[in-house]
Amino acid sequence: MIKIGIIGYGYWGPNLLRNFFSVNGCSVIKVCDLRKKRLELAKKQFPSVGITLQAGEIINNDEIEAVVIATPVSSHYSLARRCLLADKHVLVEKPMAKSSREASALISLARKKEKILMVDYTFLYSLAVRKIKKLIDRNELGKIQYFDSTRINLGLFQSDINVLWDLAPHDISMLCHLIHENPRSIQATGISHTVNKLENIAYLTLKYKSGIIAHISCSWSSPVKIRMTLIGGDKKIIRYDDLEPTEKIKIYDTGYNIRSEEKKRKLLVSYRVGDIYIPKIDNQEPLKEMAEDFIKSIKSHNEPIANCKIGLKVVKILEIAQRSLKSKSKEIPYQ
Ligand SMILES: NC(=O)c1ccc[n+]([C@@H]2O[C@H](COP(=O)([O-])OP(=O)(O)OC[C@H]3O[C@@H](n4cnc5c(N)ncnc54)[C@H](O)[C@@H]3O)[C@@H](O)[C@H]2O)c1
Repeated sequence: MIKIGIIGYGYWGPNLLRNFFSVNGCSVIKVCDLRKKRLELAKKQFPSVGITLQAGEIINNDEIEAVVIATPVSSHYSLARRCLLADKHVLVEKPMAKSSREASALISLARKKEKILMVDYTFLYSLAVRKIKKLIDRNELGKIQYFDSTRINLGLFQSDINVLWDLAPHDISMLCHLIHENPRSIQATGISHTVNKLENIAYLTLKYKSGIIAHISCSWSSPVKIRMTLIGGDKKIIRYDDLEPTEKIKIYDTGYNIRSEEKKRKLLVSYRVGDIYIPKIDNQEPLKEMAEDFIKSIKSHNEPIANCKIGLKVVKILEIAQRSLKSKSKEIPYQ
């Protein structure tokens, strides 16, 4: 039985506690938050769990083997570092850290300490994304041409990060998982309508050497919630709507052929509109699958799906996007 401590019991922490409680082979013994009210809530919901206002009571507890960190991103590095130094396995919330330097330092420390360091990229565990990965890996879409994602709603304005750092990690982690190459260049634009100057609407574009273009729209200022991704290949196109309860994925056998008539400099386009296939996707909570993968990785010493290499890549992309935002949307090479 792996004993777990959770640090951070704000909005997301309760979802982690509920899921870790239902995973076999582990037990959450203590939850920490700086706010007493949140701890009282944890105790009310799970009377057997211990509570504390001091992260040190989890980090220095010899009984605890693994720590889950669900605090704001600015504290991820220092808490994860302390946990690794105290020989704990660590699951840290997304994004892994606020710079690639911090993320790399955590990876080196985890390697040195031979501990699992994982990032909660929940969507990598969704059965819809798993299905999409299978379809892409089996070349069912043909040559991938674009990834176009919209992640907007009337969101919680964060005080330490902009909308890109809050929402885009989900899409970037999916891109890193699904597309087997690094982007060639990154460009971002956005705007802040608040006094703290953190962008509440932003658009991110990634271009790849193979010709793929990825575009991610993020907003905390939309009256409607949309979680929609189109992944287009030259054979088929996937429409992934994460808010759909049962028909999350639709595969369109739709495309076009272009022939150019050189002499007349005219494009001849023939369209193909075929069937739409809707695969059956079971309704499983991805967060539970993620929690299970963490425990499995600790026991087997195997790398989890949402491993720290993806964690670092996402932070690198966000960092470059941030530089682009601050330099009049310059297109910046990914290195
Ligand atoms: N995977 C997902 O889908 C998903 C969804 C939402 C949030 N998140 C991530 O979860 C993390 C937390 O987000 P949130 O929305 O729950 O934020 P939040 O502000 O609602 O909660 C954070 C909690 O951490 C506590 N805290 C801060 N510093 C602490 C410390 N040093 N020790 C103990 N407690 C501390 C705060 O008191 C607060 O209750 C972020 O990294 C966010 O990106 C992930």
